[in-house]
Amino acid sequence: MVPDRYKTPAIVLHWLIAAAILFQMQLPWRFHDLKTPEAFALIQLHKSVGITILVLSLARLGWRLSNPPPPEPDTLARWERMLSAIVHVGLYGLMIGMPITGWLLVSTSKTGIPTLLYGLVTWPHIPGFARLPEAGREVWNGFAHQAHGLLGWGLYGLIGLHVAGALKHQLFSRDEPVLARMAPGAVAGRWAEPRLLLIALGVVVAIAGAWLVHPRPKASAPLPPPPVQAETPEPVMPAAARAPKVEAAKAPAAPSKWTVTKGSTLGFSTLWGGQAVEGRFDAWSADIVFSPDALDRSHVKVTIDLASVATGDPQRDVALPGADFFDVAQHPRAVFSTDNFEAVGPNRYVAKGKLALRGVTRPVRLPFTLKIDGDKARMSGVTSLDRTAFGVGQGEWQATDQIPTQVKVSVQLTATR
Ligand code: HEM
Ligand code: HEM
Repeated sequence: MVPDRYKTPAIVLHWLIAAAILFQMQLPWRFHDLKTPEAFALIQLHKSVGITILVLSLARLGWRLSNPPPPEPDTLARWERMLSAIVHVGLYGLMIGMPITGWLLVSTSKTGIPTLLYGLVTWPHIPGFARLPEAGREVWNGFAHQAHGLLGWGLYGLIGLHVAGALKHQLFSRDEPVLARMAPGAVAGRWAEPRLLLIALGVVVAIAGAWLVHPRPKASAPLPPPPVQAETPEPVMPAAARAPKVEAAKAPAAPSKWTVTKGSTLGFSTLWGGQAVEGRFDAWSADIVFSPDALDRSHVKVTIDLASVATGDPQRDVALPGADFFDVAQHPRAVFSTDNFEAVGPNRYVAKGKLALRGVTRPVRLPFTLKIDGDKARMSGVTSLDRTAFGVGQGEWQATDQIPTQVKVSVQLTATR
C-alpha cells in the first residue's frame, strides 16, 4: 500500500523552509554584538533569508489552508495526534512570527539601516513605524527585540520536539509511516533509511553552510588613481610648468567663471571596521569664479548631492544616505562655499570656507594646487573632516573604533574658462 503523503508543493516548501530556518538560526551566533563589516553583511544576509522564509511560509500556509493534509496513520495515539497538531500550529506561528518580529525590530531600530535583500533589492521598513516619535519607536523596538529573542528559543524547542517526534515514528515503530508523509518512500522502522540519511545530510549542510558563508562587503569600487599628493594632507605639486607671474600677467583682471569638465572627481577615504573604504559622490556641481590675481573677488560654491554616494559596496551604499549617516531625507545636499583664498606658494592656495552638511555648518580649510593653462585649469585639493562634528554616524556608528573621526576628502577637478 502506498502510504498517504503530502502533495509535492507542500513537501518541497517544507524542506526548503526547514533548510532555510536551520541556516538562519546559526547566523545570530556569528554576528551577535559585533559591528565589523562582516557582521554587518551577515545581518543583511539574516534579514534576506528571514524575509525569504516569511514569503515561503505564507505560501506554505496558503497551500495548507486550501489543501488539507493526508489522513494520519490509524495507529497514532490520541496524545501523539494532539501533540503533533500543537507543534505544527506552533511551528507555523513561529515561521511567520519570527520574520515579522525581525522586520519590526529593524523597522523601529534607531540605526535605520535599510534592508537590502541579497545585496540587490531594497526591502521597505514596516510602514508607519519610521514616523513614530522616538519614544514610541523605542518601546516597539524593545518589544520586537524581546519577542524575536524569545520566539527564537521557542523555535529551538519546537524544532527539537518536531524532529524527536518524526524520529520516534521512523526509528521505533514499523506501522507508523510518518516520515513517508514528508519524504515519500521512506520505510518506517528502517534505521538506515536513505531518505533519513539524505535529510540528516541536508541538516548538516544547512548548519555548516551558515558557519562557512562569508558575505564580506565587496571591495570598494575602483576609483581614479589618487594623485601623488593625496598621500599628504597638504598637497605638494611638482614645480609648475609655468611661472605664476606669467600666469598672473596673462590672466584677465576680473576673476573668470569656470565650468567643471567631465572626469572631475570628489572622493573620500576612511576605514570601516578596519577595512579601507574609498568613496565618491557621483553627482555634484561647482560654481567657480576664480583668478589667481583677483583672489579677493574669487568665490566658489560646490553643491553635493549626498544620495549619489558610492563606495563600491551595495549594502553600505544604501546605508550611507540613511538617517544614521548623511540623512538625505532631511538634508539632501551638502554645500561648501568660500570666498577667502590665500596664495601660499607657486600654484598653491588655501581656501577657507564653510561646509554645510547634515544641518551643521562648520569652517573648513581646503589646501589645493591649481595649474592654469590657457583656458584650462587643473585643481587638486585634499582636506580632512571631523565626521562627528557634522553628526555623520549616529547611534552605534558614533564609535570611532569602527569608523575614525577624521575622514579624508579629496577633489580632483578640471575646468574650462
Ligand atoms: C527545522 C525546521 C522545520 C520546520 C519549521 C518544520 C515545520 C513543519 C510543519 C509546520 C509541518 C506541518 C505540515 C502541515 O501539516 O501542514 C511539518 C511536517 C512534518 N515535518 Fe517538519 N519542519 C522542520 C524540520 C523537519 C525535519 C528535520 C524533519 C525530519 C527529521 C521533519 C519532518 C516532518 C514530517 C515527517 C512531517 C509530517 C508530519 C505529519 O503531518 O504527520 N521536519 N514540519
Ligand atoms: C524565520 C526567520 C528568522 C529567524 C529564525 C530568526 C532568528 C533569530 C535569532 C535566534 C536571533 C538572536 C536573537 C537574540 O539574540 O536576541 C535573531 C536576531 C536578529 N534577527 Fe532574526 N530571525 C529571523 C528573521 C529575521 C528577519 C526577517 C529580520 C529582519 C528583517 C531579522 C533581524 C534580526 C536582527 C536585526 C537580529 C539581531 C538582534 C540583536 O541582537 O540586536 N530576523 N534572529
